[in-house]
Amino acid sequence: MGQIEREWRNGVRIFVDSANLREIERWLRQGVIDGVTTNPSIMLKDGVYDMEEGARRICAMLGDRPVSVEVTSNDHEEMIRQGQTFASWAPNVAVKIPVVNEYGESSLSVISTLSREGIRVNTTALLSFNQAVLATKAGATYVSIFAGRVADEGGDPATVIRNVRRWLDDWNYPAEIIVGSIRTVMDIQNAALSGAHIIAIPPQFLPKMVDHKYTRETVRQFNRDAEKALEQIAEVRAGGNGKPGA
Ligand code: E4P
Repeated sequence: MGQIEREWRNGVRIFVDSANLREIERWLRQGVIDGVTTNPSIMLKDGVYDMEEGARRICAMLGDRPVSVEVTSNDHEEMIRQGQTFASWAPNVAVKIPVVNEYGESSLSVISTLSREGIRVNTTALLSFNQAVLATKAGATYVSIFAGRVADEGGDPATVIRNVRRWLDDWNYPAEIIVGSIRTVMDIQNAALSGAHIIAIPPQFLPKMVDHKYTRETVRQFNRDAEKALEQIAEVRAGGNGKPGA
C-alpha cells in the first residue's frame, strides 16, 4: 500500500448505504467510496427483489471493498446458514447480523460462530454502548451504530460513538465503528468528528456534501476574471494597451 493510500485509510471511510447500482457506480467514479451497506429495506426501496443477484452485482462492482448484506430471519440457526451462504457469494461480503432478533433474543452466538469461521460480521441495529461492547467481544468486524435511531429515542449519537471509539482504542479491539441511519448532512459531520471509522451515507446526501452555492459563485467569479484576462491579452497583442476603455 502506498503512502497516500495508507493516510487515506486512516481517515474516515465512506460506505454508500444503497443497493442502487447507478448511484453506487456514480460515486465509485468520484473516488470516494470504500464500501457499500445494504439491508432488506434498502434492497426493497431500490427495487432489488432478488437479494443474491443484487448482492453479487454490487460485490463485483466493488472489487475488494466490503459489501454488507443482512440476514432475514429471527432464527439463529437460520442466520448462521444465511451468513455462510452470503459469504460464499463473493469474498468481499460482510454479513449483517442484528444484535438481537425482533424478540430480543441475543444474536451474539451467531456473530461468534460466523466470525470464528473467518466471515466478516457487521453487527447491526446497535443503539447503545453496551450493545457495541458485546458485539465487539463476540468477534464482530464492524459495529454499526444507528445514529438517527439513537436520536429518535432521545439519545445523543455523538456520545455513544465517542464512548465506543474510546473503549475500542483503549483496549486495542480491531472492530470498527460504522455510523449508519444518517438523516441529515449534519449527522455525517457529527459522526466523523465523534470518531466513526466509517459512515454509511445514503447517496442523496453526497451531492449536498460536495456542493455549495457560494462555491459556485466563487468559481463563476474566477472564470469571469480569467475570461477578462484573456480578452486583455488579445487586445495587447492586437496593438492596444490592454487597459479597459483605452
Ligand atoms: C446501515 O447500515 C443501516 O442499515 C441504515 O443506515 C439504517 O438506516 P435507517 O435507520 O434510516 O433505516
